[in-house]
Amino acid sequence: MQNIHPIFDKVLSRQHKEQLLQQKSVVIWMIGLSGSGKSTIAKEVEKSLHQQGFLTQLLDGDNLRTGINNNLGFSEADRLENIRRSAETAKLFLNCGIITICSFISPTKQIRELAAGVIGQEDFLEVYVNAPFEECERRDVKGLYAKARKGEIKNFTGLDAPFEAPEQPFLELRTDQKDLPTCTQELLQAILPRIQIS
Ligand code: PPS
Repeated sequence: MQNIHPIFDKVLSRQHKEQLLQQKSVVIWMIGLSGSGKSTIAKEVEKSLHQQGFLTQLLDGDNLRTGINNNLGFSEADRLENIRRSAETAKLFLNCGIITICSFISPTKQIRELAAGVIGQEDFLEVYVNAPFEECERRDVKGLYAKARKGEIKNFTGLDAPFEAPEQPFLELRTDQKDLPTCTQELLQAILPRIQIS
């Protein structure tokens, strides 16, 4: 008879993987208007976590929409399906023990409830990256606001498609009032207790 280590006669669980990685996994779900700073903060937080020895995965609207979600647009139904698939993808990483940072506009309560439901409320940390519409339009990093104003982009969030501010996010970051290093630090401070193995 072979001497099998006790964990190998069971299906490996998320806890086994977290133990291996010496971290606790969670999904950080960043929401906010286009140009609010979601992806910029997400990238900075990911870099810092990597430097501190955490394994992370970044998922965002722009990269998933060129692959797994490339048949979806910005109607209400397509946004729901975009978030459903993205949340299912995030859950796979979560169950691998990986700290998963998601950056999606996620404009409505219904959409965010769908994501939280797929992931599980206890593992879903909603971070509201908040800058007023006027400020996002002023920044217009990708030139999308100008195109939306000219009618070249339809269903643009905050203009002719809704954005409902969340009522009780895990954390709110006002990117029009605080700079990038401050927002990054605030987010890191809030999540570190959730991802460190005690
Ligand atoms: S959603 O609402 O959560 O399904 O959107 P998401 O998957 O995060 O995709 C947002 C990015 O798509 C670009 N884009 C638009 N955003 C909003 N409205 C319209 N109509 C639109 N068309 C294209 C834009 O680059 C968004 O990226 P961010 O990073 O938010 O600026």
